[in-house]
Formats: sequence, C-alpha cells, structure tokens
Amino acid sequence: MVRIDIISVLPKLIESPFNASIIKRAIEKKIVEIHFHDLKDYANKRRKQVDDYQFGGGSGMVMMIEPIKKCIDNLKNQRDYKEVIYMTPDAEILNQKIANKLSIKGNLIILCGHYKGVDQRVRDNLVTMEISIGDYVLSGGELPAAVLCDSIIRLIPGVLGNETSALTDSFQDGILAPPVYTRPANFENINVPQILLSGDKAKIDKWREEKAIERTKKIRPNFFN
Ligand code: ADE
Repeated sequence: MVRIDIISVLPKLIESPFNASIIKRAIEKKIVEIHFHDLKDYANKRRKQVDDYQFGGGSGMVMMIEPIKKCIDNLKNQRDYKEVIYMTPDAEILNQKIANKLSIKGNLIILCGHYKGVDQRVRDNLVTMEISIGDYVLSGGELPAAVLCDSIIRLIPGVLGNETSALTDSFQDGILAPPVYTRPANFENINVPQILLSGDKAKIDKWREEKAIERTKKIRPNFFN
C-alpha cells in the first residue's frame, strides 16, 4: 500500500477532496493511505508558532524550519519515504510524466506552503522535489497538493476499474484525447459522428487518432515541437 502524508497549517482545507469519488475508492480498497498532519501540532508547545517575520525585512510571514523538521523526522522514523515534495508556484510545473513517475514511487510526504512560503533551509535540506500546478498563485499549497494526489492516485494500478481508461486519457500519449459521445445519437438534430455507430473498430480507432491529432494541433501546437 502506498502512503501519502500531507503536512499543512490548514489540514481542514484539503480533507474533503479525499472523501469522494476515485480517491475515496482507492482508500477504501486499501491501495492508498492518506494522512494529514497539522503543523501546529509540531510547534513550540506554548505559543503554537509555525511562522515568523522575514530576516532582512519585507512583508509576509515565513514558515519556520523547526516544526517542519520535527514533523518530517517523526514520519521518517516510522517508515521509508521516496520523496518529500514541496508545493510552491516557483517550481517545475506538474505534468502527466511527473504524475506517472510518482505513481510508481512509493510513500510520499507532501509539504504545503503558506504565507510567503517556507524558510529556504527547508527547501535546501529537507525537500527532495518541488512542484507547481501552474503559473498562478494560490493562497496555499493545499489545493495544489490535492491536485497532485489526484493525478497520482488515479494512476496507481487497481485504482481505476478499467485499467485502460487512464492510458487513453489526454496527455498519456503526448497528445490530447479525442472527442467522446454517448446516447442519444441524435439530440435535437445534432448528430454523433456516423463512424462511431459503424461498429468498425479499426476505422473508429483511426478516426479517434486523427481527431486527437487535429485537436492537439489546434489547442496545443507546442506538443509537436
Ligand atoms: N502554492 C501557491 N500557488 C501554488 C501553485 N500554483 N502551485 C503549487 N503550490 C502553490
């Protein structure tokens, strides 16, 4: 079983996406185990402080190294982890290749940033990988961590009922997925492409590939660079 430990100052913000749909099913099937850790539980007992002012001045608080180190050490003392991932906008952007790699790695620790981010010494000494979910800034790393977990967990063998369905997702072959249709075949005179009703598997596969390429050329021409 893969275990993912998420460290955050606001664990409440992230718990709900794990209680529904595919991730919930993966947890119920005991394929993955997710644990949330409130950084405040590792803070100085008296003041519960997890952040402080920046050295050198400047607005915004910085997450302190001590509680983060304590929490990570506590986890590492109990089991082996393959990566300690820090969610931050100033990092490599998540893509399907990264999700694929992480889905077969094993146990992961994910650290969610907040405020101005974490003390650089955390990034230099405790974190092994940094991931952004896109070039925009969110209030914290919790939603990005949920996005990362979803992208990873659905790829773990046994999570999706139909194993081929993750393989035919957009991006899995470096191109977008072709359009899909379902009943009714005719809706207010808008028809499903006739070929999909033909029953000719080879022709349908060829049509899907052509449509996928056409769509990719139009929307993401950079995929062919
Ligand atoms: N924290 C804030 N914004 C983020 C982003 N775009 N990706 C990852 N973590 C973040």
